[in-house]
Amino acid sequence: MKKVLVTGGCGYIGSHTIIDLLNHGFEVISVDSNINSDQSALQGIEAITGTKVKNYTFDLCDLEKTRLLFQENEGIIGIIHFAALKSVGESVDQPLLYFNNNLNSLLNILHCMEEFAVPHLIFSSSCSVYGNAKTLPVTEESPMEVAESPYARTKQMGEHIINDFLTKHQHSNAILLRYFNPAGAHESALLGESPINAASNLVPVITEVAAGRRKELIVFGDDYDTRDGSCVRDYIHIMDLANAHTKSLEYLLRGDNEVNHEVYNLAIGEGVTVLEAVNAFEKVTGQKLNYRIGPKRAGDVVAIYANYAKAAEKLAWEPKRNIEDIMRTAWAWEQRRTSAKMETAGED
Ligand code: NAD
Ligand code: WQD
Repeated sequence: MKKVLVTGGCGYIGSHTIIDLLNHGFEVISVDSNINSDQSALQGIEAITGTKVKNYTFDLCDLEKTRLLFQENEGIIGIIHFAALKSVGESVDQPLLYFNNNLNSLLNILHCMEEFAVPHLIFSSSCSVYGNAKTLPVTEESPMEVAESPYARTKQMGEHIINDFLTKHQHSNAILLRYFNPAGAHESALLGESPINAASNLVPVITEVAAGRRKELIVFGDDYDTRDGSCVRDYIHIMDLANAHTKSLEYLLRGDNEVNHEVYNLAIGEGVTVLEAVNAFEKVTGQKLNYRIGPKRAGDVVAIYANYAKAAEKLAWEPKRNIEDIMRTAWAWEQRRTSAKMETAGED
C-alpha cells in the first residue's frame, strides 16, 4: 500500500481528500492539532469508507514531534500539506500568528521530507496568491500581484520556499495546487464543512440561513461592474477538488512530471455571481432564501475565475460538478448537521 501523510486531515479539504485517497488504494495517516477542527470528520470518513484513519494530534510547528511521526511511520511516499490557518480577516488582525503557524509548519514538513527522504509533496496554495488579477480568466502564468492579506502572503511565501527547497533537492517533487472557492459536501451527507468558528464563506452562510441558524444572508454589494452587480467567483465542488490531490500524487508516482515543482489552478473555469449562487440554492432546494443587499465587504475582489486547462491536460483531471451540485450537497449536509445539533441539545 502507498502510505500518505495528510496534514490537516480533520479539516474541510483534508478530510474529503482522505476519502478520495482511500477509494484509490492509498493508506492514509493524518496529523492535525485540531486548532480549527475536532475529530468528528474522522468518524465521517469511517462511516463512508469503513476505514479508521489514525490522527496524530499535535502542532506541526513542533519539529521534534513532527520528526517522531516520521520515525514511527517508515515508508511515507507522499505528504499532502493542508494544515494552515485560513481566515483572511483573522490574518489581518494577527499577522504574526499566521506567519508563525503557516510558515513554521511548512518548514518542518520540508525538513522531514529531506531527513526521511520522502519523495513527493502536494501543497495547498490558493487563488489568493494572484491578488487582484489584472486579466481573467487567471492562468498559472498570471503574475502574483501584491498579496491582499497576511494569509495570502503566507501562501505566496510558501510557494517560494518550496520552489527554493526543490531547486536544491532535485530528487524531491512537489505540486502546488491553487484552489479557487471550494464548497459543497460529500454526496452521502456524512461529511461536509464544519467550521468551529462562525462561518463567513458564502455557501455555509447560505445553508445556515436556510436552516434557521442565522437570520439572513447579506449580499456584499450589488453595484459592481458584473452582469448582475454582485461579485464573481469560481466555486469548485469539494469532491472534485479532493480528487485533484489523488490525481496529482498518482502523476508524481508515475514520474510524469517534467520538472520537480509544478503549479496548477483548481477551478471549474466559470464565474458565478453571488446572486446566481443564491438562485442556484433556491432552485435545487425549492425554498426561498432570506437575503438582502448590504454594503460592500472591504478587500473583496470584484471578479475572479480561472482556467484549469493545465490540470486537465497534465493531470487528466476534470471537475464534474457545478454550482447546483455544490448547493444540493451542502444543503443535505447542513440539514443533517442541524438535526444532529438539535438532538444533542435535546439530550442536555
Ligand atoms: P481547515 O481549517 O478546515 O483545515 C485545516 C486544518 O489544519 C484544521 O483542521 C486545523 O486544525 C489544522 N491545522 C492548522 N494549523 C496546524 C498546525 N500548525 N499543525 C497541525 N494542524 C494544523 O481548512 P481547509 O479549508 O480544509 O483548508 C486546507 C488548506 O487549503 C489550507 O492550507 C488553506 O489555506 C487552503 N485553502 C483553503 C481554501 C478554502 O476556501 N477552504 C481555499 C484555498 C486554499
Ligand atoms: C465569496 C463571495 C463575497 C459571504 C475566500 C478567501 C480566499 C480563498 C477562498 C483561501 C464574495 C460574497 C460572502 C456573505 C456575501 N481562501 N459573500 N455574503 O472571499 O471569495 O475567498 O475563500 O485561500 O483567499 O478570501 O470567499 O466565500 O467569503 O465569498 O455576499 O455573507 O460571496 O463578497 O463575493 P472569497 P467567500
